[in-house]
Amino acid sequence: MRTKTTALPSEDKRWRIVMATMRKHGFAPDALIETLHSAQEAFGYLDDVALRYAADSLGIPISRVYGVATFYNLFTLKPQGEHTCVVCLGTACYIKGGPQILSALEQATGIKRGETTPDKQVSLVVARCLGTCGLAPACVFDGDVAGKIEPSQAVARIKEWETT
Ligand code: FES
Repeated sequence: MRTKTTALPSEDKRWRIVMATMRKHGFAPDALIETLHSAQEAFGYLDDVALRYAADSLGIPISRVYGVATFYNLFTLKPQGEHTCVVCLGTACYIKGGPQILSALEQATGIKRGETTPDKQVSLVVARCLGTCGLAPACVFDGDVAGKIEPSQAVARIKEWETT
């Protein structure tokens, strides 16, 4: 069992959820799938930062982590869009209007969850809990958490990207 913990990649509270998962499993290498699952639930997808964090923390070669992340269909690697909007559909956000936000965004962009607009500007992603349930319903726009957000405000944020 490893006892040394790797520094969190950033201040983003979601990393603490991922870290808690690894700690629960004693930072053992066989916690990899659980760890990736937890990162994907928190961020909506797995990117290089998340994969490296898991590799370093669990003492697994990064190549193996990439291998696992790309082998299983349940894992989604970072979407291709210039901008990424993550909509939380965890229990608290679901109850407070997450699905309405998602459908407003799908309508505004013409794409479905998990897709990227044809011009590669916006990717729409769904997460299962961003770790900020007190702010439900919550979304993340390019790493910026927005809480207690209305569907129209979420659409406005996406539209801002079109003009920048
Ligand atoms: S359920 Fe959305 S932040 Fe926890």
